[in-house]
Amino acid sequence: MNHLLSIEELNAVSLNELIDSAVKLKAERSAPTSQPLAGQTWAMIFTKSSTRTRVSFEVGVRELGGSIMFLSSNDIQLGRGEPIKDTARVLGRMVHGCIIRTFAQQDVVDFSQFGKIPTINALTDEEHPCQILADLLTIKEKLGTWEGKKVVFIGDGDNNMSRSWIWAAKYLGFELVIAAPKSCLPPEDFMAKVNAPNVTLTDDPVAACKDADIINTDVWLSMGQEGQAEKEALFGDYQVNESLLSHANEGHIVLHCLPAYREKEITESVLEAHSDTIFQQAENRLHAQKAVLAMIAQ
Ligand code: CP
Ligand code: NVA
Repeated sequence: MNHLLSIEELNAVSLNELIDSAVKLKAERSAPTSQPLAGQTWAMIFTKSSTRTRVSFEVGVRELGGSIMFLSSNDIQLGRGEPIKDTARVLGRMVHGCIIRTFAQQDVVDFSQFGKIPTINALTDEEHPCQILADLLTIKEKLGTWEGKKVVFIGDGDNNMSRSWIWAAKYLGFELVIAAPKSCLPPEDFMAKVNAPNVTLTDDPVAACKDADIINTDVWLSMGQEGQAEKEALFGDYQVNESLLSHANEGHIVLHCLPAYREKEITESVLEAHSDTIFQQAENRLHAQKAVLAMIAQ
């Protein structure tokens, strides 16, 4: 594996290998057996805000023996209009790898092609692959496996999180239901491209939650969509609250990639009741991304 640009580009074998490696790296964190990034310098280019992704990559690269620099797009010439392909060709001659958070998926693809260095997607409008790896690790820890489980994603069914979940379900075979207002469901051409009969779409959140094992939500308005009041107004029936969770299986878990907007996509009481899982999920960003970095460094 040279890059992690999307879950779409992975498969069942690589997903399982990454999660198994993350389990191992988490267990040996206090006594690591190798430093695969020793002597390497990595860069992070972020054009959107971040707490978890930024901190977990900064810590992760250092724990694997490398050093890392954070480049806000506002501080580099990219923010003044220098093309991504030029930025990539400069950094590609100086650093060993780059982690990018931005809007267009094509920018991450272009960076990997022009920079010719390992490139990791730290969130685009299309995918959030690192988050899904942490989520899968959390499911494995909490429920033992995702096999045979029913996963529900409630909220904006056509954002970076839902799309990455859909690809993960295709490769790993678990049942995934996307519950969203009709206009926020993934489009037909995307679903046709994925071609996964185990992924279904509905605008009925109660039916979706029936017998669910994993209830997953995310902000209604992703970064870049702030102020879209008309879109936000569609989600009133899609809040993860006690009433909705009463339809889920006993022993269900609730996931939220964070940041959370209380009393919007999730109630304060549900978030706090499931905070043990949700903050374990946040911590798992570190372990899952170390697995990605270690696999790239192999
Ligand atoms: N979940 C996630 O990616 O968090 P940040 O935006 O804080 O990095
Ligand atoms: N869908 C959200 C995820 C945040 C981690 C966003 O893009 O803002």
